[in-house]
Amino acid sequence: MAIARVIENTSFILGPEVEAFERAFAEYVGVRFCVGLNSGTAALHLALLAAGIGAGDEVILPANSFFATAEAVSVAGATPVFVDADAISYTIDPGKIETAITARTRAIIPVHLYGQPADLDPVFEMARRRNLLVIEDAAQAHGAEYKGRRVGGLGDIGCFSFYPGKNLGAYGEGGAIVTGDAEFARRVRLLRDHGSEQKYRHEIIGYNFRLEGIQAAVLNVKLRHLDRWNELRRRHAVSYDELLKDSNLILPREMPYSRHAYHLYVVQSERRDELQQQLAQAGIQTGIHYPIPIHLQPAYASLNYQRGNFPETEKQSDRVLSLPMFAELTDEQIESVAQAIRNP
Ligand SMILES: Cc1ncc(COP(=O)(O)O)c(C=O)c1O
Repeated sequence: MAIARVIENTSFILGPEVEAFERAFAEYVGVRFCVGLNSGTAALHLALLAAGIGAGDEVILPANSFFATAEAVSVAGATPVFVDADAISYTIDPGKIETAITARTRAIIPVHLYGQPADLDPVFEMARRRNLLVIEDAAQAHGAEYKGRRVGGLGDIGCFSFYPGKNLGAYGEGGAIVTGDAEFARRVRLLRDHGSEQKYRHEIIGYNFRLEGIQAAVLNVKLRHLDRWNELRRRHAVSYDELLKDSNLILPREMPYSRHAYHLYVVQSERRDELQQQLAQAGIQTGIHYPIPIHLQPAYASLNYQRGNFPETEKQSDRVLSLPMFAELTDEQIESVAQAIRNP
């Protein structure tokens, strides 16, 4: 129905469905503005540009994220500066940010990895003292809460991805920024559409990063189900916790300040590759998020980081395994994953 409406109106790019989704998602996150874009990477990229961050600037981010978090910083012309992860939450270790700050630092990007909010208060405190922006990477954390408030809307700008596998996923590429700052929102809106607000009049050089009508129509419908789907993910996490509590795996921990959205249910095993094989033989597909930390990616060889720089991130990348996690998982499926882990 929603898709048919877009086709009927031929509002394939931006248009009323996108505007309706922007209003609904801003309200959901609890901010004034949402600007729909065509990926989470575009969201990070334009958040940085709208903040005036570019050549000569440094941006602090965790070494254990999806590559796009750092890539957006580089594409904006700035330099990513990595920080190690916390051993328990897997998110940026706030105690290690201070030493990474230099006179060139302009922003910090905490990533709400796997659906667990980063510990934001110490990040905000540091940002306030050093006059830095906080750009939340909430690509994996739609509906997750930090101290009772939904993430994305807590920093200066929040970035979301609606890649199909996300907690809120489109039927193709999609992303958005959310912000309480009218000027940031205006600049991102300009940048996403060739620097233009008025057809064929271009104020600045921009991009084609527009959200499609069909994707917005899908997102509008799915947004109504997001809380229920997240609740199911949380229940599945409790079932895994219970079934695996006596295994030798390290299980994910929901931090006291967080309401985890369980985009991924990530365990640690010293014999991760063997375990992954074992599960594959039982027909169970798992993932590794992520096998190579960003500071050790070939693309960042020129930054001269070495193995040993971020021991926690490196240890995690050797040990983490993401078990099947989606709202539609059944109790039987969870039981059979646990069974395959316990009895090889
Ligand atoms: C943490 C994180 N940041 C950024 C992105 C980039 O989003 P997209 O794939 O929509 O460009 C993703 C998603 O893949 C992600 O997981």
